[in-house]
Amino acid sequence: MNLLFTEYTLGKNKLKNRAVMAPMTRSRAIGNIPNDLMAEYYAQRASAGLQITEGVSPSPNGLGYARIPGIFSEEQVQGWKKVTDAVHAKQGRIFVQLMHSGRVGNHLNLPKGAELVGPSAIGLKGTTWTDAEGSQPYSSPREMNLKDIQAAILEYAKAAENAIKAGFDGIELHGANGYLIEQFLHPSANHRNDEYGGDWKKRNRFAVEVATAVVEAIGADKVGIRLSPYGVFNDLEIHDEIEEQYKDLAISLGKLGLVYIHIVNHSSMGAPAPKDSTVAEIRELYKSQNPNGAYILSGGYDPERADSDLKEKNADLIAFGRNFISNPDLVERLEKGIPLAEADASLFYTPGEKGYTDYPVAALSKV
Ligand SMILES: Cc1cc2nc3c(=O)[nH]c(=O)nc-3n(C[C@H](O)[C@H](O)[C@H](O)COP(=O)(O)O)c2cc1C
Repeated sequence: MNLLFTEYTLGKNKLKNRAVMAPMTRSRAIGNIPNDLMAEYYAQRASAGLQITEGVSPSPNGLGYARIPGIFSEEQVQGWKKVTDAVHAKQGRIFVQLMHSGRVGNHLNLPKGAELVGPSAIGLKGTTWTDAEGSQPYSSPREMNLKDIQAAILEYAKAAENAIKAGFDGIELHGANGYLIEQFLHPSANHRNDEYGGDWKKRNRFAVEVATAVVEAIGADKVGIRLSPYGVFNDLEIHDEIEEQYKDLAISLGKLGLVYIHIVNHSSMGAPAPKDSTVAEIRELYKSQNPNGAYILSGGYDPERADSDLKEKNADLIAFGRNFISNPDLVERLEKGIPLAEADASLFYTPGEKGYTDYPVAALSKV
């Protein structure tokens, strides 16, 4: 039997299978507010054991990309309520990914009064999309002072409370892929010399303080985190302290009792693979502090590799990304061996239902 299709208990949540829908930014939130179309999209995919939403900003300052949603205003909370109600009506479970874009993005995407900030005033090379003026260079971030850092931590805690108000089953801190938390973790983006930077122990501090604040706000059984050791996305470079740094972080997060750690591997997208030994050490150290915590692996999975990693206890849950975009009934297709439809990457971030809610389920498609 393939373990992917067996139940799992995550904190207080019973998951109907171990296939997780990976967090994926889809840029359909006009005005940064979740809407009916988004509720339909998530409801279509509610057969996942657990859905993790696209990156959602806890702060106006974290909306660096066009049309990404927030969860800091009442209107946004009400919008998300439609999403969680639609998913729960289908007995799904859903966590919101809290993603503060930090130094990534362009100021034209931000609401009035917001600003692009980061641990240091180091901008990204290249360009990013803005609805106002098309493709534009990344904006230069302002270096956060200690007051900004405290304010950002409070924003995460408030967003976590909002998530529970909106009906989410939990939150995932986006500590991966070069967004704010990883910007603090990483020497490519963090050149500070105060208590939030300078050596890897100090660079871990922001992540641990954010995790502590959200745990205090909503309880550790509702808080997971995504990490990308060896990730290079958003202008990061491999450095020689990764192992030491993430081992220490795994212990701190385990001590806090986080319900899961979720590891990114984007080697199927051309990125460097995280070292197997580091991924295993993070798991062991995290579980040494929190034996009931779950470990999620992601990136380029098929059901056979998923089953093998579950059987070997390399992971408790497996996340699938792109295949969930183009196969709303992915779990059923994987279980029955029905061929998968391919996602149209040109429609990943475009507004509207095309390439979003119009992928058919297998029974209605011609495959
Ligand atoms: C369109 C798109 C948007 C994504 N947005 C996010 C995101 O908001 N947060 C995140 O942590 N990862 C994001 N990812 C990465 C996915 O969660 C996942 O790690 C990646 O697609 C690899 O898994 P796969 O090989 O199963 O697709 C995104 C990926 C895609 C294709």
